[in-house]
Amino acid sequence: MINLRLANERDCQRYLDWRNDPVVRESAFESSPIEFKTHKVWFLGKLESPESILYVVELDNSAIGQVRFEIDDEVAEVNYSIDENYRGKRLASSMMSCAIEKLLMKNRNVKSVVAKVKQGNLPSMKVFENLSFTKKDCKNQEDYSVFELQTNF
Ligand SMILES: CC(C)(COP(=O)(O)OP(=O)(O)OC[C@H]1O[C@@H](n2cnc3c(N)ncnc32)[C@H](O)[C@@H]1OP(=O)(O)O)[C@@H](O)C(=O)NCCC(=O)NCCS
Repeated sequence: MINLRLANERDCQRYLDWRNDPVVRESAFESSPIEFKTHKVWFLGKLESPESILYVVELDNSAIGQVRFEIDDEVAEVNYSIDENYRGKRLASSMMSCAIEKLLMKNRNVKSVVAKVKQGNLPSMKVFENLSFTKKDCKNQEDYSVFELQTNF
């Protein structure tokens, strides 16, 4: 069963491994590999930041992925990934759905969740379509699509 918990300092190396995975790098806007020292500063900063919520996704007590929300006022931008050993098992939509539910329970100010998905990232686009996100029309924006879910219903 899928379970989400908040990330902690002991997840630092795990997050770096996930971040440096070639498929994750390809999906990212800054795609060069990250070194541990740089990552650690970033990661500890995120754990401290009130604007960042980092969930580790577990399946039968194994960490299988992460969902991170960056909150700016009423908008939460989402970043997520699944460990390469657990991809392709159709876990992503339910993991994202659980994460959004948890976010909204914790953070009642959030009125919309947005995601920027690079063109060609078909599994991720499918996830947001499955969860009824709307693909927004962004003029002059060719390298990624923006998906949005209004949550104030
Ligand atoms: C994005 C990511 C989390 C998706 O997880 P996944 O395990 O690969 O995806 P799933 O197996 O859950 O599949 C997701 C959906 O995409 C569909 N899908 C998979 N490959 C597809 C393809 N090539 N074309 C179209 N749809 C596809 C699946 O059928 C599924 O839809 P369904 O549940 O309606 O059947 C994972 O690929 C990942 O970690 N990628 C790198 C990081 C990343 O891209 N993050 C998102 C940034 S916006």
